[in-house]
Amino acid sequence: MNNSDVISFFKKNPALSLKKIEEEAGIPNYLSKVLKGTVSLNETNLLKLHPILVKYGYKESAVSGAKVIAIANHKGGVAKTTTSVNLAKALQLLGKQVLLVDLDPQGNASQALNFLDDEMPEHHLAHALTFESEKNKNIVDCIYQVEENLDICPTDLSLSPITNELINKRAKGYDRLNKVLYPAKRIYDYIIIDTPPNLDILTANAICACTSVVVTVQPEYSAYRGLNDLFEFVFDEDWQYFNKNISIEGIVYTLVDQRKKIHQEYMQVIREEFARYRVFDTFIRSNVALPEATNAGLDIFTYNKNSNGAIDYMALAKEVDNG
Ligand SMILES: Nc1ncnc2c1ncn2[C@@H]1O[C@H](COP(=O)(O)OP(=O)(O)O)[C@@H](O)[C@H]1O
Ligand SMILES: [Mg+2]
Repeated sequence: MNNSDVISFFKKNPALSLKKIEEEAGIPNYLSKVLKGTVSLNETNLLKLHPILVKYGYKESAVSGAKVIAIANHKGGVAKTTTSVNLAKALQLLGKQVLLVDLDPQGNASQALNFLDDEMPEHHLAHALTFESEKNKNIVDCIYQVEENLDICPTDLSLSPITNELINKRAKGYDRLNKVLYPAKRIYDYIIIDTPPNLDILTANAICACTSVVVTVQPEYSAYRGLNDLFEFVFDEDWQYFNKNISIEGIVYTLVDQRKKIHQEYMQVIREEFARYRVFDTFIRSNVALPEATNAGLDIFTYNKNSNGAIDYMALAKEVDNG
């Protein structure tokens, strides 16, 4: 849902009271100006307004919403988090509205953007996902601005026990993130989901919620070996039911050291073995500025925009955005 969707909804429903809707959504008193076109609703107020308008009969148009990309690989240390954070930032630099969702209870993506465990805002992803009605919050209340056009739904270890809640709900538990993200999908251009290093129900939630998957792989034997399991999981028929249109956005090689013969070799092997999937032309070189940026609580572009890390992640974002 964007600003013009709101305007056309009110034009079709002239009897609705703007004041009442502003009150119910908890937004400032400015809808009449929005309808005159003198101001536009910002993302936060669009998110607040969405469930209220749905209550009054708003229906999504057939126009597709955000592109939701899950960054996945059950192997740890293959740059899922580094890719989630820096791809999100690169897309923001390309002028997109981006939401980063941290679906790993370790909270590394949150920490990388300075949402630290001991300073975690009161409401975060666990509150959006929980089925316990007294704890549950609308996703809107669990999203925070990192900077203009880049928001985060952060996480800490309290996401861990939610896993059991999801498992106990069976089918509903797999589709939970998808449902919860629904209002956000109408507002952002991209939603990037960082996933844990497991093929568990949280990763299954990312798969059910996404439009495509980016697989990060370090081109070495151990990583190559796990890839079949990952693709089987992505296309598991148990949750294909919820997401029939899922695709692999692409495989991206990470932590690449071009001087290593083994890396050259496995980049080729994976390309041949998984020829049915796209492998991005861009690969992410090993670059010490990337862990340094993470330690500093910054994305790579803010930390050092001339680093190889910044150059590579911008090239990747352009490939993703060009489809
Ligand atoms: N291109 C890179 N060059 C150097 N270090 C990297 C690079 N990408 C990631 N790292 C580092 O490797 C480690 C694992 O990366 P991370 O993104 O946390 O992986 P994952 O989320 O898959 O476990 C981190 O310390 C990270 O800073
Ligand atoms: Mg990680």
